[in-house]
Amino acid sequence: MGKLYGVIGDPIAHSLSPAMHNDAFSSLGINAHYQAFHVNRENLPAAIKGMKAIGVAGFNVTIPHKTAIIPLLDEVDPLATAIGAVNTVVNINGRFIGYNTDGEGFIRGLHEEYGQPVLDKRILIIGAGGAARAIYYTFGQQGAKQVDIANRTPDNALQLKESCPYLVETAAFTMEEAERNLANYDIIIQTTSIGMSPKVNASPLQLTNIRSDAFLSDIIYNPAETFIMKEAKKHGARVQNGMKMFAYQGALAFEKWTGTYADPKRMMKIVQERLGG
Ligand code: ATR
Repeated sequence: MGKLYGVIGDPIAHSLSPAMHNDAFSSLGINAHYQAFHVNRENLPAAIKGMKAIGVAGFNVTIPHKTAIIPLLDEVDPLATAIGAVNTVVNINGRFIGYNTDGEGFIRGLHEEYGQPVLDKRILIIGAGGAARAIYYTFGQQGAKQVDIANRTPDNALQLKESCPYLVETAAFTMEEAERNLANYDIIIQTTSIGMSPKVNASPLQLTNIRSDAFLSDIIYNPAETFIMKEAKKHGARVQNGMKMFAYQGALAFEKWTGTYADPKRMMKIVQERLGG
């Protein structure tokens, strides 16, 4: 009998994870199946109990359960505990262990596209929500030198900065301040939902002062080229979208489940095909 993996979330119907992971299982000759499960907030505790009872081998967790799942797990790894969010659960001898591969997935994808080490660069994160938190803490854990945060609500940026358990030089800015200081940054990371389909003609920053040798990474992958990416390109900057982050967080989850590193390029191709690009 093959092993069962999956993803829980609400909404979940359009998740690209089943296509990505099922392709990885079959291409690596692993007898397993990955299934999307629609679980609403109210049913989360029952769903976790049920998944344990039927011996689900591992699963991903997405909106809105990444934080709510923590007290329902048997153990949570230190980085995921600090982030306060779990996106990957592994069943080890009947115990559910939680991890977060979002930040590491992001940094691997960034490093690959950027083409040189990123930890000593001057980095600006736009946004202070869940995704920003995973990326910021993982940068901190990996020893990044300077990662500043700009956010619409400055208090949220300050809170993120002050709650980080890892040593990292950080300033928290308003969007206006960030706009003025943009020329200071080698890498700018867009983590808000601004520009996501269907409201594609929106951008959190104007980018007037972005440098032509800067790199802009947007974690959005639908649309494949966001408004802010287009603007950055007009200034000569290099850009990337969120597809690599998505593929790498998946490849890292897959490795935790199976001990095998799935090919992220193949995973990305599946995502690209599904998005029609
Ligand atoms: P996620 O978990 O996907 O990161 P989130 O936790 O809801 O999403 O975080 C959303 C982020 O996008 C926040 O930084 C939010 O800014 P605030 O802290 O001021 O709320 C930012 N954001 C969302 N909509 C925005 C908008 N219209 N303009 C500026 N920032 C916005």
